[in-house]
Amino acid sequence: MGMASLLRRSLALLRAPANELAFATRSRLRWSRGPVVLAQEPKQDVFDWLEGAERRDAERVAARLERRYDLAALRARSTRLVYAENLALLECLEALVGGDPLPASSEVLVRAVDVGCGVFQYATGLRAWLGTHGVGTNWDPAPRQVVLRGVEIDGYGIYRDGHSRADHGRAHAALAGPGTDFLVGDFGGLAVPPQDLVTMFYPFLSAYPLLRWGSPISHLRPRRLVKAVARALRPGGWLIVANQTEAEFERLGNLLAGLPLQLVRRASWATNLVPYGERTLGRIGSLWRRSE
Ligand SMILES: C[S@@+](CC[C@H](N)C(=O)[O-])C[C@H]1O[C@@H](n2cnc3c(N)ncnc32)[C@H](O)[C@@H]1O
Repeated sequence: MGMASLLRRSLALLRAPANELAFATRSRLRWSRGPVVLAQEPKQDVFDWLEGAERRDAERVAARLERRYDLAALRARSTRLVYAENLALLECLEALVGGDPLPASSEVLVRAVDVGCGVFQYATGLRAWLGTHGVGTNWDPAPRQVVLRGVEIDGYGIYRDGHSRADHGRAHAALAGPGTDFLVGDFGGLAVPPQDLVTMFYPFLSAYPLLRWGSPISHLRPRRLVKAVARALRPGGWLIVANQTEAEFERLGNLLAGLPLQLVRRASWATNLVPYGERTLGRIGSLWRRSE
């Protein structure tokens, strides 16, 4: 690690008391401004930061994903960024999971939790994938019902429009469709019924990203979190994780060692479907299976 980076990380520690106080205050306030009307932006030229063949490829991928996952409602009620992030998530999930059948509890139902869902802006993409992955193949002929819950410990930050993260999270969950909801809570202490799938996109595994995000350092309890994930999964269930870097992925592996979770596969989680594609280059997705 270079001197500048070391200095940045040390300075981030200075934020710790302010983050702690701000989180305690907003959690006590539990602010809500009521239901959110999700912002809509036109979707022509969604990939206007790309050029030539790259842009045409991205448009082809997007058109295929739109057909496959029925994203009309999302297309009609989202910003360009949220739309692009949903497409990117679908692309990455497909690349990671390939043709493996989902571990659904029954042929007709899949039960999943997204841990640390933030504002849950990708709820539609995630739900659509859970309901559709493999459907139409001989192992899974019909769409399945989805019960998907996004859990976020820090739900009451206030956005520029005066709504809280929970207000927005609920709106994204409602847009995703029936069976999807958003819950403010600490997943580490939550009792949940046995899950077929747990997802964690960019969980905090070290202090620096957590402090930059504005979270209190007391939320940095990754071992407790992964233990709760292992408890929540039914035998045969899947954990899907996205990490920002190889080093984070390694840290995840160390945390999961000793728990009944085996790595099935890892894959690049890089995408050029979002405008910050170059920042996704080192991202890694991984699929873990809870032993029987
Ligand atoms: C880097 S953010 C990722 C947000 C979202 N998954 C995304 O990809 O946009 C990690 C999130 O996990 C949340 N988190 C941390 N610990 C948690 C816990 N014990 N239970 C629920 N959420 C938690 C944080 O508050 C933060 O919003």
